Amino acid sequence: MTRQLFVGPLIHSNENGQLIVTQRVAILVEDGKITTVMENPKPGDMTADYVTLLSAGQFLIPGFIDCHIHAAQFPNLGVGYDRGLLDWLETYTFPLEKHYSDHNFSEKVYDVVVKRTLTMGTTTACYFASLYGESSVILGQKAAQFGQRSLIGKVNMNVKRNDGYCETTEESIINTKKFITDINKIESPLVKPIITPRFALSCDMELMKELAKLAKKFDVHIQTHISENLDEIEAVRHLFKDYSSYSAVYDEAGLLTNKTILAHGIYLTDTELDLLNKRGTSVSHCPSSNTCLRSGLCDVKKLKSHGVKVGLGTDVSGGQSSSIIDAMRSALQVSNHIAIQTPGYEPLNYKDVFYLATLGGATALALDEHIGNLVPGKQFDALVIDLNVSTGPLDNLIEYTLEEKLQRLIYSGDDRNIVEVYVAGQRVK
Ligand code: GUN
Ligand code: ZN
Repeated sequence: MTRQLFVGPLIHSNENGQLIVTQRVAILVEDGKITTVMENPKPGDMTADYVTLLSAGQFLIPGFIDCHIHAAQFPNLGVGYDRGLLDWLETYTFPLEKHYSDHNFSEKVYDVVVKRTLTMGTTTACYFASLYGESSVILGQKAAQFGQRSLIGKVNMNVKRNDGYCETTEESIINTKKFITDINKIESPLVKPIITPRFALSCDMELMKELAKLAKKFDVHIQTHISENLDEIEAVRHLFKDYSSYSAVYDEAGLLTNKTILAHGIYLTDTELDLLNKRGTSVSHCPSSNTCLRSGLCDVKKLKSHGVKVGLGTDVSGGQSSSIIDAMRSALQVSNHIAIQTPGYEPLNYKDVFYLATLGGATALALDEHIGNLVPGKQFDALVIDLNVSTGPLDNLIEYTLEEKLQRLIYSGDDRNIVEVYVAGQRVK
């Protein structure tokens, strides 16, 4: 057994979203799992094979959880934001994703994606890959190789397209079953498959029902998109005339489970939110994407007031950044915009978005038993933060409290401030 000890200040959240700040803790990690957390330890209180004493000014936080990221769309970061969602998908996204029929192309991109997101502190990523199963397995192999916890989705689309970026229902099911088997063959405890119907405009009811059955049979997660853009919602209404809402379409298919995460959810009605709450289904808030593509301002407080679990997603490349620090900042700005337009509205604060980026994301992905904060019984997925690495001559000029340091990280930090990254106790940066 490997025993590691980490000693220093700790900031994390509890399940009520409150910030827990401790000036000095010792965290004992055995084979990647936290077994003891001792406050104010004295020298010699605890021993281990490997001891990491944080330097002055550094502090520990839980690893970031990206609940919605398209690994395949990395090469497109920053292009096409003068278009709305449906036009952007046709013009930029689908043509790029077709390249992943090429395994060399897939290998090159996915290598960068996993390394880059780990550098940015994403210890868990919930990925969309592409339509191609074998190519999507390469993403899982890269996550296992570099030590990133991940849910990997082979995208399903059976609505016929002229460019051939689609499958028949039969192909989609056969390829998805093979994909699940191949991901499980990687035999990494960090990497799991997730069933990924792209959205209701790409999949018919028959395919969605079959995919829901597969998710049940293999007991795996499900992810898709919902209520992101008004034109999209109108198109869904037109295609699925017999259903009362976008959520009702997914519910009929059996896709709304307590291991389902839906990206965006900007325009979900009260009735839909109550349905999601009843099913235990979560939403990934994607504020950077929602503003880049001018999809809308998602009111996280409204989602939460209906009891819906919410995490945070970068939604690369609808979102312009693969950093969860940027996503937290965008979430704050979106919430401030809502507050400016809505008298009496209390916007999200830095503690709220920190929760979304860590334990909130873990809860949204139904992984909160294992990750999200640094308490006994959970995996040691953690970041060592140092604010003095990017400010040069301003280092240590002013003393800040730990709460203030967390604010500085969220409002003005970047990946340079993430000096060490651990997943299940393994150092990956
Ligand atoms: N809806 C369906 N596919 C996509 C996608 O790739 N990105 C975003 N943002 N929305 C989608
Ligand atoms: Zn997306």
